[in-house]
Amino acid sequence: MATEREETPREERGHFVQLLAIGLVASIIGIALGLLIDWWPSQGSAEANKIDTLYDVLIICSVPVFVLVVTVVLYCAWRYRMKPGEEEIDGPPIHGNTRLEIIWTAIPAIILVALCSYSFAILTDVEEADARALNVRVVGQQFTWTFFYRDGAGKQVSSPQLYVPRGQQVNFTVQSRDVIHDFWVPAFRMKIDAVPGINTHLRVTPDRIGQYPVICAELCGLGHAVMRQTAHVVAPAEFDRWLSNGGRTDAQNQAQQNAGAGGGGGAAPDGKAVFTGNNCGACHALADAGTTGGTGPKLDDVLADKDAAFIKQSIVNPSAEIAPGFSDGIMPPTYGETLKPAELDALVKYLDDVTGK
Ligand code: CUA
Repeated sequence: MATEREETPREERGHFVQLLAIGLVASIIGIALGLLIDWWPSQGSAEANKIDTLYDVLIICSVPVFVLVVTVVLYCAWRYRMKPGEEEIDGPPIHGNTRLEIIWTAIPAIILVALCSYSFAILTDVEEADARALNVRVVGQQFTWTFFYRDGAGKQVSSPQLYVPRGQQVNFTVQSRDVIHDFWVPAFRMKIDAVPGINTHLRVTPDRIGQYPVICAELCGLGHAVMRQTAHVVAPAEFDRWLSNGGRTDAQNQAQQNAGAGGGGGAAPDGKAVFTGNNCGACHALADAGTTGGTGPKLDDVLADKDAAFIKQSIVNPSAEIAPGFSDGIMPPTYGETLKPAELDALVKYLDDVTGK
């Protein structure tokens, strides 16, 4: 606090108290704002609460540091600014202050070590493996996620939507078929990159029944923004039925059985439901389904004069013919594998019916 004008110790103490008061008030406002604002989506996993608490602690520790530094800088810039006529005057030379330097090095060091230890403890906790974990393989590709399971008999089940049971740890093995994606369910709070050529892992214990968005959090191309699906957290019994039904809900299974009982020939799954369930509308506008996606061609236009064979080819082998103005490689080439034959037929029939002129 040395300037050209000597202050009495009493004045200096007064300024110090002022600074302290300003800093204290600003810290309280900053911490209150940080804690009161609802930053996060709803919590859908056992890990979410621990991670949100960690965030709150970081806010409580970092806001006062930020406020202290900014308050001192602003106050000093104002209090000790150069006044007219002082251009030639210089302050007294200062050669450092060992005690101050030790204090301002030691305090941040202690805070940092404490926060790092706490973060590390939380990380170890949320990543702890449970031997009874359910294994789910997540495959990202431009621009969709596919989820693979093993049913009780060891047979592979694939699904365009994520289904997980409540209360059981899920061990996700995350892969990519093309570029880097990032598997993220904000309600679970955990995310990890899907990197071509390697497996990455993520463990989560969903603890609240509901539907939560699955988001790709790595810019991966034109359709990145629509690479969104849904995570369904369901009761364990419901999950077991879904898995043993080959990745179909009770309702979908019922529709399938009804169609089967009808003696064949009936439209088995509902084509419109297949369109909706596989999120086709995220990329494709289709008047009948009320979708407006613009990443892929508008189906009402490009399919107007096409037959069922063309529609089927466009779904299972989208590279065969590209609509004018669109690029190859945007539409995932895997729907031929991930859709069940009956679903594919229903989808083709639906699209043929609703786009004919
Ligand atoms: Cu995949 Cu962004």
